[in-house]
Parts: sequence; structure tokens; C-alpha cells
Amino acid sequence: MIGDRRDSGLTRKDCGSGVPTLPRSRITTTIAIGVFLGCVLGFFYPVDVFVSWPPFHDPITFSNSEVIFSSCKSSERINMLKSEYITASERNTELKKQIRELTKKLQLAEQRNDNAEKQVLVLGEQQKASHFSTVKVIPDDSINPKLAKILEKVTLKRELIVILASSSVKDMFEVWFTSIKRVGITNYLVYALDDEIAGFCKSNDVHVYKRDPDELDETFKSIARIEGNHEVSGLKFRILREFLQMGYSVLLSDVDVVYIQNPFDHLYRDSDVECMTDGHDNMTAYGYNDVFDEPKMGWARYAHTMRIWVYNSGFFYIRPTMPSIELFDRVTRRLSSMNAWDEAVFNEELFYPSHPGYVGLHASRRIMDYYMFMNSKVLFKTVRKDAKLRKLKPVIVHMTYHPDKLQRMKAVVDYYVNGKQDALNAFPDGSDW
Ligand SMILES: *[C@@H]1O[C@H](CO)[C@@H](O)[C@H](O)[C@H]1NC(C)=O
Repeated sequence: MIGDRRDSGLTRKDCGSGVPTLPRSRITTTIAIGVFLGCVLGFFYPVDVFVSWPPFHDPITFSNSEVIFSSCKSSERINMLKSEYITASERNTELKKQIRELTKKLQLAEQRNDNAEKQVLVLGEQQKASHFSTVKVIPDDSINPKLAKILEKVTLKRELIVILASSSVKDMFEVWFTSIKRVGITNYLVYALDDEIAGFCKSNDVHVYKRDPDELDETFKSIARIEGNHEVSGLKFRILREFLQMGYSVLLSDVDVVYIQNPFDHLYRDSDVECMTDGHDNMTAYGYNDVFDEPKMGWARYAHTMRIWVYNSGFFYIRPTMPSIELFDRVTRRLSSMNAWDEAVFNEELFYPSHPGYVGLHASRRIMDYYMFMNSKVLFKTVRKDAKLRKLKPVIVHMTYHPDKLQRMKAVVDYYVNGKQDALNAFPDGSDW
């Protein structure tokens, strides 16, 4: 009902804005003819009046010249000419007035046309800006020359996988880099958070970077203080910012991810941020209209709300654009001033539109295919029980929904890489608490 009303309103409006085109074209034609006639008459009449009948124009010439000997006949003729002159000059004035009016109308019409063109221009620009809002940053290697040198070596087409790792997740980390190497991915970098994991990387021939402690600035320190044993969740946004500043696209990866194919072959690269989802079906992953029912409102009992399961902040591809850097800054700022779940903050910044007192982030987002970039709920609740889906070969599996991450990671490797058909069977759908 409401929709119908709005539709008809829109249609009316459209018609309204369409109508002026007809008179406008008529006006233009009229003006053109008018101007042409005016020019022709305006050109010839004054010549007639002022050149053909100079005696009237110049009374002195009239009184002193040959006409002084004229007869009654000629004075009659003079009177006739006089009245003709008056008529002609009246017509001349009238025509001039008409030309002035037509010129004015023509100018107005041109102005309207001009405004219409300007409107089209503005709309065109807006459309562009809101489409792929990808204002790329100008790469600046001076941010971190040491890191820049490593990135020159390890990246491919200016993109790479980045992981933050500490020795507390060493076992999972081993499964992680083993799967990466097996797929043949070379453009990745481990951002080591302690010496032990850095050494572990070196002894396993894994690309690693470790920041010297005295290179940490105040923001790093304040986040580290708040995080305590939360470890890396907020710190990563601050760290990743440098990669973007240096002009690299980053595929951020948590440690509880198993790689089965090369993700760089499965990205769209058309948005500021491309995320895997915590959703588990088309609706929850890609968004749906959740109708809220309030019966006491009667005719208007249904209110429509837009819902979507959160983007996973542990596996996303982000391009080096201004909105991307702004996203990281906003998340970092909020996480460094309060204790919040980084995924919630990340999603809030991506989701909320501008409103009074708040300027929203204009970042474009894409959600990855949830069967290709699969979370562990999709795998254990759905895929492993469906004969057809079992044959799908995902790009990655992320153990987002389960605390027994290491065991499930190994089972995923067994199932998808080693072909053990029963590898996933022993696990319950969810955790047993
Ligand atoms: C889910 O969406 C995909 C495309 O996005 C479509 O091919 C598929 O049929 C949908 N599945 C269901 C159950 O609607």
C-alpha cells in the first residue's frame, strides 16, 4: 500500500518534470522565428526610414534644400510620407521591443538548459563517487623503509596476504603456513609479534617481518596496553594501515585459516573492502529484509528492517584507498580508547550511514561467496552433510565458530587435501561448551 502510494507519487513527479520539454521546444522555435524576423525587419526598416527619407530625419536639410520650391502636391506627399514614417517607426519600436522580449526569453531558456546540464553533471559525478569509491592513495615508502624493502620482494601485483602471529598460536600457525606453501602462494608476509615466532619462521623458510620495539609509536603502545592478553585484535588495524599507505592491497588472514586454493584467483577487487561473512546461507550472508511486526499499529503494522550477518574481521581483502585508511583509523581510534570487540567495531564503521552528529564512512563493500570462503559453521552444519556440497572445493576454511580450532584445521586438511572422506565426521556441529 505504502509502496503504491510512493510509486504513484514518483510517477506524477516524473511526468511533471517531463512536461516542460514540449513547451520549451515550442518556445525555442517561436523565439528562433521571432529573432529571425526581427533581425530582417530591424535591419531593413531603419535603413528605409533613415536613408530613403533623409528630409524627415534632418529638418535643416528639409527646410534648406530643393524641396523648398515644392507644390501642394508635394506637401501632400510629405504628409503621407510623414504618417508612413510614424507608422514605420512605431512598428520599428514595437519590433525592437519584441526582439528584446524574445532575447530575454531565449536567455532564460538557455539558463534553464544550462542548469539542467549542470544537474546532470553533478548527478553523474555523484554516481561515479558512490559506485567504486576508490580514491587510491599515493604510495609512500618512507612510512617504513625496512618493510617497504621486504614488500618489494614478496608481493605479486602489489598484493599480499598478511598475518599477525605470536608464539601462543604456534601450532595453528604451522598448519597455516604449511597449507599456504602447499597451494603455492608466495606473496604473503608474517608480521611476527615476538622473537620466538620470528625465529620459527626463519627456520621454516617463511617470509617474516618483525618491528623493532623502539619503532612503536604512541598509538601502538596505547593499543597494546588496552589489549593486554587479547593480543592482536586491535593492533592489526594499526599495522595494516602502513601496508595501505605504501600502496599495497592486503588480504588479512587470521591464523585459524586453512588454504585449499589460491585466494588471489577468486577475488573481485571492485570494492574498498571484500570480506568473508559470518553468515551461513544466502539471507544471512548477503542480507535480507527482516519485517518487524507491530500489530497495534494496524494498517502500518509492518516495518521493514535490513539485516546482514557481520563481515568477518579476520579474513578480508582491502585495497589501498582513502576510505580503507579511514576505516582503519576509525577502528583503531575506537579500540584504543575502550575495550570493545574489534569485529563489532569494524562492522559498525562499515555499516552505519551518516546521521545527525555522525559522518558515515563511504567505503564500498563486497561479501565473498560463503561456499568458497567458508566459515566452520557452514562446513560443519551444512556442507559435510550434503552429498553435493561435500564435493565443492572451497578456497579457504576459517574456524570462526569453534574453539577446538587446531583439531578442526587438521581435519579440514585431511578431508580436502588428503582425501580422507570421514575426517570431518567426529566433530559435533557446534562446540559442547
Ligand atoms: C543462493 O544464491 C545463489 C546466487 O547468489 C543462487 O544461485 C542460489 O540458488 C541461492 N540459493 C538458495 C537456496 O536460494
